[in-house]
Parts: sequence; structure tokens; C-alpha cells
Amino acid sequence: MKIDAPSLTAIREYLDEMMYSLVDLRLSFEVPRTPAGFPHFESLQQAVKRLDPSHHTLFRLFRVGEAVDDASLRAAVPERVFNALIECELLERDESGAWRTPSLLIVPAEGLYLIVGAPPSYPTAARPCNTWFDMSSYFVANALPRSLHGQRVLDICSGSGMQALLCATRGASAVGLELNPEAVETARANAALNGLDNKVEFRQSNMLAAVGERETFDFIVCNTPYAPVIAGPEPPRSLEEIGNSVLLGVPSKLPAHLSGRSRGIIGTWRSAGYRSSTYQMESIASQLEKEGFAIFAYVDRAPDTADSVLRILQGDLTQRAGLEPERVAEIVNGVRELLRKSEPPIDGFYNQLIYFQKGKIESAGSERAIFGLSPAPPKA
Ligand SMILES: C[S@@+](CC[C@H](N)C(=O)[O-])C[C@H]1O[C@@H](n2cnc3c(N)ncnc32)[C@H](O)[C@@H]1O
Repeated sequence: MKIDAPSLTAIREYLDEMMYSLVDLRLSFEVPRTPAGFPHFESLQQAVKRLDPSHHTLFRLFRVGEAVDDASLRAAVPERVFNALIECELLERDESGAWRTPSLLIVPAEGLYLIVGAPPSYPTAARPCNTWFDMSSYFVANALPRSLHGQRVLDICSGSGMQALLCATRGASAVGLELNPEAVETARANAALNGLDNKVEFRQSNMLAAVGERETFDFIVCNTPYAPVIAGPEPPRSLEEIGNSVLLGVPSKLPAHLSGRSRGIIGTWRSAGYRSSTYQMESIASQLEKEGFAIFAYVDRAPDTADSVLRILQGDLTQRAGLEPERVAEIVNGVRELLRKSEPPIDGFYNQLIYFQKGKIESAGSERAIFGLSPAPPKA
């Protein structure tokens, strides 16, 4: 993508005029959302066919990710918007001469327009997904404070920039840190698309690497990826090292960048645990408590099992780390043993949003309180 602020403004105004968010909301009543956070593909494709021709073209391009022919596109979109889409490289011609996006979609979410990667589950996804967005994005967004007036926010693992941008709409100035350079560019484009580019800065960064030694923040949000499941090609030594491995080492470095009134939210997904607590949460909590922070957590049972987590780990080690099958088997077996011998024994995997705050948290009731919806009872 190319960031051209006047073109992105023209695109925003056009989406507003087309009531893109409203039409998307209406479609959401017809189309179920998958656990990955996107509308179910085939149902969406069918529902979009019932829209008027202009919206049909718009939603095929930016919500379904399909290619549209030149005549339909020019009939649907005013010339200045067409030129703006070309200028920002949001449209390209495929081999048949039809127009499509570079595997990007525009998702209306929480009052923002977000350019994000088409999810791998969509048959229209033509490239690897570099700007990740999923159900966890909605979860974290809904845990953010309603007002952050005058506060400095740090968004670690910023992806599309959703959390940093949302904080900016609530009065904060925000810095987003993201490893993937393409996601950094997309997040910058999203800042301009939403008219927030003077309030948010996105830096390419391996976790906290691009934060200045003396830089401090009032609010931290961190929605980490659930893979890689372990940090390196060596078997982990403890259960807290299994899960969101990019989180390892962050809690110990955070306090140096927290202001006196700091608080924040850290997401851990598919973490091994028992009775709603997880080994990762225990580790994060004890590191932050030592620095005078209080902790509580929202918890949801993750649908994962030890076998499904081990399958993800096997895929990671084979594809990402490129290890030999014998070495992969050795590491996977080591992790299986760790899970089997855990004490207290794990009773499953959990998704958690860990909230921390300097001092006491009055409303939480007890220390390290954990709340949320317990699993539905089995059907009679
Ligand atoms: C679950 S996504 C969250 C994206 C966004 N914050 C949201 O809520 O939609 C995790 C993001 O972390 C990024 N990431 C992975 N490893 C990272 C690292 N070591 N440092 C910074 N970002 C990283 C991924 O590229 C991805 O964009």
C-alpha cells in the first residue's frame, strides 16, 4: 500500500457517503460470524448479491475480496475515488483485466474503517495474511477504557492498528509497535483513512525494541499472536513458556516504560491452565505484582485441546523453523510430557485478558480475581 493522505481522505468520505458501516451491520444480521471473526464466506457472498449494484460492487471488492470487471467498477465508483484507490495501491488489475485488492479487505469495526489482510480461510485470499485481524481484535477493543483523555498509549503487536486508533479516538496519543513491515504500512494507512494520523505513530519493532529507554506510557495494550507456541527451537522448560511465546520477557521490561498512573491489558490465547487460571497468567501476574501492580483477568475457555495445540506446534516447527522431522518430533514429545506431568494438572486451555493497574483494584474484589462466562453445561 502507498500512504497518500488526500486519497485516503477521499476514500473515507466515499465510504461514509455509501454508509458502508451501516450496510455492513445490516449484512451481519443475515450472515453468521465465524470464530475467526469474519463473516462466513459463502453466506456473505450470497447476501451481498442482494445489494443494489453500487454496494454489490463495493462489498464484493472490499468485504468478500473478489475481482470485479472494469465496467462495473467504473459504474459504481466516482472517478476521483477510483483514482484515489489506484493512488493508494488498494486496487490492482489481475491477469483477466478485472480489478481486485492486493488481498486486503476494509472492515468497519468499533467506529473505524480498517484495512486488514483477507483471512486465510477466505478462498479469495490471494497472498499470505500480513495484517492480522480476528475475533481477538474485537475482544481486546471491547476491553479498552472509554476515555483516555491526555494519556499516552502503547499498543504492542499493533497489526492493523485497531487498538491504537481506537485509543486515539478516546483522547489518547498512541504508539503502535509491530514486527511485520507490511502491517506497519497498513496501520499507517488506517491512521490516515480514519483521520487520526496526527495522534498515532506506528513503528516497526520486535516487541519493545523501538521504544526509547526513557519513554513512558499511561496505558498499555498488548494483543499477542498465539503462534509461535514456543519461543525457539529448544524444548521449553516450563508450562508458562508454552502459548504466546512472544510475550516471554515483556512483563519484566514493561515497568521501565510505565508512568506512575499506568494500567494496561495483555491478551493471552490458548494458554494451558487449571480452573480458569493459566501458567502464563501466573507468571505475568507475579512479575507485575513485584512492581506494585494489581492484576485481574477476564477468562474464556478456549476450544483447544492438548492435541490441537501440539499440532499447531508441529506445524510451526516444520514450516517456520524449518527443523528436521526427528527434531520436531523430539520437541513436540517434550512439550506433550510437560503438559501431561503439570502440577497442578492442566484441565484445558484458556483465552485471557489480563488487566493490571498500579495499586489496588477495588472493583475486582480479591487479588488476581478471574471472571467471565463459565462453559455451557452439557445438553441433556
Ligand atoms: C493477534 S495480532 C493483533 C493485532 C492487533 N493488535 C489487533 O488487536 O487486531 C498479533 C500481531 O502481533 C504481530 N507480532 C508478532 N510477533 C511480533 C513481535 N515479536 N513484535 C511485534 N509484533 C509482533 C503480528 O504480526 C500481528 O500483527
